[in-house]
Amino acid sequence: MIPYATATSMPPILRIRALRCEYPGEAGPVHALRDVDLSVARSSFLAIMGPSGSGKTTLLHCAAGLQNPTSGSVELDGQDLRGLDQVQLARLRRRRIGFVFQSFNLLPALSAIDNVELPLRLDSRKIEPARTTELLTRVGLGNRGSHRPHQLSGGQKQRVAVARALIAGPDIVFADEPTGALDIRSAREVLRLMRELADHGQTIIMVTHDPVAASYSDAVLFLADGRIVDHLPRPTAQQVAGRMAVLVESAEQAVHGTAVHR
Ligand SMILES: Nc1ncnc2c1ncn2[C@@H]1O[C@H](COP(=O)(O)OP(=O)(O)OP(=O)(O)O)[C@@H](O)[C@H]1O
Ligand SMILES: [Mg+2]
Repeated sequence: MIPYATATSMPPILRIRALRCEYPGEAGPVHALRDVDLSVARSSFLAIMGPSGSGKTTLLHCAAGLQNPTSGSVELDGQDLRGLDQVQLARLRRRRIGFVFQSFNLLPALSAIDNVELPLRLDSRKIEPARTTELLTRVGLGNRGSHRPHQLSGGQKQRVAVARALIAGPDIVFADEPTGALDIRSAREVLRLMRELADHGQTIIMVTHDPVAASYSDAVLFLADGRIVDHLPRPTAQQVAGRMAVLVESAEQAVHGTAVHR
């Protein structure tokens, strides 16, 4: 098991062992994750990269208890998710986990403010409107609070989704390509925010295709065909781009069975 990100004497906040996930497919099972072992230090910022279809979203969903793996275990703060029933799991997700979905998953009937505050309402927690406004302002949407999702651009919806994942002050935030729909300036704001959160004790696990986004993390984990194939501590955008180019090329070779010449 490789410990990622900052080394500390504290037990890891997330420990994943021998995680496998298979989906049924017409030509036999699709192996989305194959024996993934991973240990994530508290208060670290981990980026996960890999070619499309390499299992990044599946890994995030299994780690956050949104999806059951085929086998293997996920422990959050020493608590094995397999030992929890649906109600306990839902409570754990509401209280300790923030999740930014690749497809945003905002509720269309609710305003930006109501979408952001939803995790607190679901948990019958106190709403502090000033906190909601502060978070929305932080992601550059201070003047869009009353808009409903259909009145927002893709990038604005994504930023509402980021604010919603952070409102309850979760210990661990999983973000699936949280800057994928953002322009450079908004992306930088969101990345700075996540960097700050990690520096103040929260743990961030972010999937990204962007080497610059990955360079905000403490370490990058590279997935290919459902396996962890590499990791890079204290990454620079250039190093990350170099490793990704190699991975994408081998994924193309695996699909086409030949070397790709450019
Ligand atoms: N519900 C599903 N049913 C069948 N196969 C699935 C399902 N979800 C994902 N897969 C397959 O599992 C593999 C991993 O998918 P996953 O969504 O985890 O990839 P990813 O790395 O997040 O890709 P991307 O970068 O495109 O978001 C892919 O081959 C995908 O086609
Ligand atoms: Mg994905």
